[in-house]
Amino acid sequence: MFLAMPRFSCSLLFLLVLFVSLIVQHCSGGDTISWSQSLNGNQTIVSKEGHFELGFFSPGNSKNFYIGIWYRKVSPQTVIWVANREVPISNAASSELKITENGSLALLDHKKAIAWSSKSVLHQANSTEAVILDTGNLILRDSLNSSRIIWQSFDHPTDTWVPGGWLGMNKITGEYQSLTPWKNSEDPAPGPFIDTIDPSGLNQFLLMWNGTEVYWRSGVWNGYRFSETPGMNRNPNYITNFTDDHKKRVVTQATSLKDVYIRNVMDTSGQNKQWLWTIETHAWMVVWSQPAPCDVYSVCGPFGICDLNSKTLCSCPLGFKPVSAMEWDLNDWNSGCTRKTNQSCSNDNSTVAETEGFLEMYITRLPPGSQPLTGLTAEECKQACLKSCYCTAYSYDSGCLIWNADLRNIEQSSSQVNIIYIRLAASYLPSKGNERKNIELIIIIGLCSGIAAVFGITAVVFRWMFLRRRQHKTKEPVGGTCVRFKHSDLRHMTKNFSNKLGQGGFGSVFRGTLPSLTDIAVKQLNSITRQDQDFQNEVITLGRIQHINLIRLLGFCCEGTKRLLVYDYMPNGSLDRHLFNRNGIGLDWKTRYQIIVGVAKGLEYLHEKCRDYIIHCDVKPENILLDSDFCPKVSDFGMAKLIHRDFSRVLTSMRGTVGYLAPEWILGQPITPKADVYSFGMMLFEVVSGRRNTDQSQSTNNNYFPVWAARKLNEGDVLSLLDENLTQDRNMEELSRVCKVACWCIQENEAERPSMGVVVLMLEGVVEVNLAPVPSLLLQLTEDQGSIIYQMGSHIAYTSMETKQCFSADDM
Ligand SMILES: *[C@@H]1O[C@H](CO)[C@@H](O)[C@H](O)[C@H]1NC(C)=O
Ligand SMILES: *[C@@H]1O[C@H](CO)[C@@H](O)[C@H](O)[C@H]1NC(C)=O
Ligand SMILES: *[C@@H]1O[C@H](CO)[C@@H](O)[C@H](O)[C@H]1NC(C)=O
Ligand SMILES: *[C@@H]1O[C@H](CO)[C@@H](O)[C@H](O)[C@H]1NC(C)=O
Ligand SMILES: *[C@@H]1O[C@H](CO)[C@@H](O)[C@H](O)[C@H]1NC(C)=O
Ligand SMILES: *[C@@H]1O[C@H](CO)[C@@H](O)[C@H](O)[C@H]1NC(C)=O
Ligand SMILES: *[C@@H]1O[C@H](CO)[C@@H](O)[C@H](O)[C@H]1NC(C)=O
Ligand SMILES: *[C@@H]1O[C@H](CO)[C@@H](O)[C@H](O)[C@H]1NC(C)=O
Repeated sequence: MFLAMPRFSCSLLFLLVLFVSLIVQHCSGGDTISWSQSLNGNQTIVSKEGHFELGFFSPGNSKNFYIGIWYRKVSPQTVIWVANREVPISNAASSELKITENGSLALLDHKKAIAWSSKSVLHQANSTEAVILDTGNLILRDSLNSSRIIWQSFDHPTDTWVPGGWLGMNKITGEYQSLTPWKNSEDPAPGPFIDTIDPSGLNQFLLMWNGTEVYWRSGVWNGYRFSETPGMNRNPNYITNFTDDHKKRVVTQATSLKDVYIRNVMDTSGQNKQWLWTIETHAWMVVWSQPAPCDVYSVCGPFGICDLNSKTLCSCPLGFKPVSAMEWDLNDWNSGCTRKTNQSCSNDNSTVAETEGFLEMYITRLPPGSQPLTGLTAEECKQACLKSCYCTAYSYDSGCLIWNADLRNIEQSSSQVNIIYIRLAASYLPSKGNERKNIELIIIIGLCSGIAAVFGITAVVFRWMFLRRRQHKTKEPVGGTCVRFKHSDLRHMTKNFSNKLGQGGFGSVFRGTLPSLTDIAVKQLNSITRQDQDFQNEVITLGRIQHINLIRLLGFCCEGTKRLLVYDYMPNGSLDRHLFNRNGIGLDWKTRYQIIVGVAKGLEYLHEKCRDYIIHCDVKPENILLDSDFCPKVSDFGMAKLIHRDFSRVLTSMRGTVGYLAPEWILGQPITPKADVYSFGMMLFEVVSGRRNTDQSQSTNNNYFPVWAARKLNEGDVLSLLDENLTQDRNMEELSRVCKVACWCIQENEAERPSMGVVVLMLEGVVEVNLAPVPSLLLQLTEDQGSIIYQMGSHIAYTSMETKQCFSADDM
């Protein structure tokens, strides 16, 4: 009896343990959480084919834990859905995700309090199970009848929409499927932006800030695509569809692409971005993004300044500081900026004027919320703002506008389209009012004397030319000053435009001779939209740019609709003639190397050394001219500024340009100097091989030459890239260096491309060059009868004539 007792309790204990382990069976590995199971700590469930995983995660350096769904094969962890985005838990090990007695899926924290619940309708709890599907959808269903779905995560998206999912609204329940961004990379709580179907009933999607301010529209569904979203549905393997029936109004996406993940994300910065990941690249890249960063309403918060040229997008004006430096460090700018010194406010009007002043800023558009004050002069407008306790800024153009609240949507501009005066403590202003007046005076005097100098020099030049002509001496015209020519003179100098040198996208080029007998090239521009004054200003700026590897602008003509540019004549013409024309004298390696380094230096100068940096946007052999010593001169720079709006149209309609365009051109991303680096890299392959990259006739196994070349390079076979006419004459060290640089330049990700300055250092051997990864060239641009075809890997091929501006510092 006494002996039997322990044996009894032992087996009881055994039974108890067995029972408990049956009840609290932890799951790991399967795709299902069933009634008796729970998930905690680092346990996860994985969809059948292993695409998605669900479990606890902790974003970035955050100490908080969340339940989320992420791609199992993608690293770093990419989360597409978060359950408890607003209620983080602090300890994952003692929390659990399980099906409750009510039949809903719930996350219980360490105190067993409900942190999140699916709030699904009561169902027989013991036959409810949660399953993660290979689409990334988490469903709650009846284990006895698996087609009975009680709840699903696709009905409650967070910031991401993936193929198979939907966005829109359920007409029966009135529920919306909208995307709201993460607050920042470490906090999945919703930010102030939303991507939602138009609540007014139009079949379009809107991006809104604070649920009130619409800053982007997809355009209405036209049965085929959203009208203001070009490029959509060009690829039959990846279809977006819209359904409007008695139950729902939703947009869906379906893809038959294998080994490719696509996700549409409402970004923390308020942009809608489409990302693509492929098994070949193992990296995400942005395929599409809308709208432009600074067009997002209040992206930089109150008083924040948006500037595409600055490193961090947002900054605070003089005298202001970020409200939360910590959030700003995470690129979460929504809290905006605040004054370093509070606005002093007093009824004594005179003291106010003493301690407060205004910061003048050039902006692209005036912030919303202004109030007009009629009948005031500029000075009265300023005083009116100073006298009001609430006034934060004023602007005076044709009339007086004042702002009595936080300023949002301030986008920096370098042109004086709109000027706003932001009120701040006078102590932060660089100068007091009187000094300002003096500065203005100095500027005016400077301008006047500048203009006088230009006229003076012009007169001198003409006189000098005249003298030269009489002396019959051949000397170059005066350097450093851009001369204004009369059209009749140019006509005379070019013998009535009779000797045509070439025809480019911007116009025709004619040969001519100055009275000094110096040879010139005269470019007749078409598609000019700029006003006389703007044109002249740009030309004068361009005329100031002097570098041994940049073509020199001698002068211009601007009469009525006629716009001509006068350049030095380059006797050896353009690089393509020598590279691809087999009848011409081929270039030896030494010359090619000299050309490569020269072009790099010319571009470096444009990007990094002139006052307003210039992106060339159209680097290709046709735009590299050679002087009598085969010294290269980059030509056609600054055209984007000169012809402005039409530039992208000209560029994309020009034959033989598209192969050099960086992927950014069609990805909806801003164009930076790195786009030129890409084109330069593409051109390097052509200089080395003496053949067009697009020429498929030779032995590259029908591969796109740059990709083939990069592979050969990684195999150590540099020689096979070299022009066969050069096999005797070569310098292996230089050749290998050039090929490696080319390979770095054409990296898909612009951050991985070196700057032009670094390229020069690499080419000169100052900096060691490592082997670059073989670029995937996922987005490959080719052209066919005027439309651009771009391919992503071998999967997608579609055309788009979507054009884009070539931005340069002044245009932003
Ligand atoms: C899960 O966490 C425990 C400690 O909490 C650790 O011992 C174990 O190695 C972890 N398992 C995995 C797969 O990370
Ligand atoms: C389940 O129901 C109880 C009472 O009906 C309620 O207090 C609890 O919040 C519910 N749990 C969930 C997860 O909905
Ligand atoms: C589930 O619960 C119901 C009653 O609530 C019971 O009749 C049924 O047998 C249970 N099923 C299982 C599989 O435990
Ligand atoms: C399973 O559920 C579906 C959807 O609720 C229902 O239409 C179907 O009749 C159910 N099947 C059975 C066998 O109960
Ligand atoms: C944000 O929206 C709320 C109401 O939805 C409104 O009261 C508030 O004024 C808005 N904020 C701004 C700055 O417009
Ligand atoms: C789009 O959805 C409609 C029904 O809403 C359907 O009739 C049509 O076939 C679908 N189109 C495609 C391309 O799937
Ligand atoms: C500015 O005013 C706010 C309240 O209006 C106050 O909390 C803050 O301390 C003031 N800051 C300074 C620098 O005076
Ligand atoms: C300050 O200005 C307001 C309006 O411009 C005026 O009504 C008020 O009398 C002035 N106060 C003083 C002390 O001058």
